[in-house]
Amino acid sequence: MKGIILAGGAGTRLHPITRAVSKQLLPVFDKPMIYYPLSVLMLAGIRDILVITTPEEQPLFRRLLGDGSELGLQLDYAAQPEPNGIAQAFLIGADHIGDDHCALVLGDNIFHGQGFAMVLRDCIRRLTAGEDGAVLFGYPVRDPERYGVGLADESGRLIDIEEKPAAPRSNRAITGLYLYDDQVVDIARGLTPSARGELEITDVNREYLKRDQARLVDLGRGFAWLDTGTHDSLVEASQYVQVLEHRQGVRIACLEEIALERGWIDADACLALGAAQGKSGYGEYVMNVARARGAQAR
Ligand code: TTP
Repeated sequence: MKGIILAGGAGTRLHPITRAVSKQLLPVFDKPMIYYPLSVLMLAGIRDILVITTPEEQPLFRRLLGDGSELGLQLDYAAQPEPNGIAQAFLIGADHIGDDHCALVLGDNIFHGQGFAMVLRDCIRRLTAGEDGAVLFGYPVRDPERYGVGLADESGRLIDIEEKPAAPRSNRAITGLYLYDDQVVDIARGLTPSARGELEITDVNREYLKRDQARLVDLGRGFAWLDTGTHDSLVEASQYVQVLEHRQGVRIACLEEIALERGWIDADACLALGAAQGKSGYGEYVMNVARARGAQAR
């Protein structure tokens, strides 16, 4: 299973903040936004990941994340010169995907909830076993008319998609995390750009729907899917992370911790990664996690 993080885009709703810096590098409380979608792929067990950014901003992402080897990952980079649609990720990433399956996550989407890693791994197992061609994740929202909305039958089979419906038949917004089987690159190649000139992800999903191969997994209440696209939602996402982290004493989307838990790095390597950031609360946390796993105290 390959992973793609789509972190290009113009971020126009965040101007002037994003006039000089990518939205996905902005802080969400204690870490850059891209840590959150990257953590989702890592929780799913995906290590081979393509990061798609604008050409201008690629060096900044490289500086932040490098080749991923420190975290036991393989990170590659590709550019999307213009924001020509989410589904363009499959054309840009065609070589990276090869004939494998692929998880795509948008670089500005934050997911958090108990048991998410288990849900993801179960979805990937079904996909790998050929039980599903596409897995989408639905989240109940107050204002479904602003989103692509999915309808599923009782077994979770996707039966309809409505794009920004005036009279939504469901309140399940389709989130920015998509799992696809090995048909996705061919499907993306066959798409016609929309009136806005974009390759729309909803058209990919509609194709799987037509083939009766799509599933909608309900993330439900008790789960957080946060938007970061506007000034207010960016601050709210930071506040959400801050409240949970302060209250529980754990960190959301701590990449070093996930890599350690998954066995991709050992405790000493984790300690060194924490020590390199040791003047921050984040770095201290990473060191504590490593020490709890038996790293030599420094
Ligand atoms: P959007 O929020 O739709 O677009 P944006 O980030 O450019 O912001 P704005 O609407 O304020 O101009 O994008 C959602 C995510 O997908 C975001 O992380 C950027 C990414 N994206 C791309 O990288 N390329 C694209 O072509 C599109 C449409 C989105």
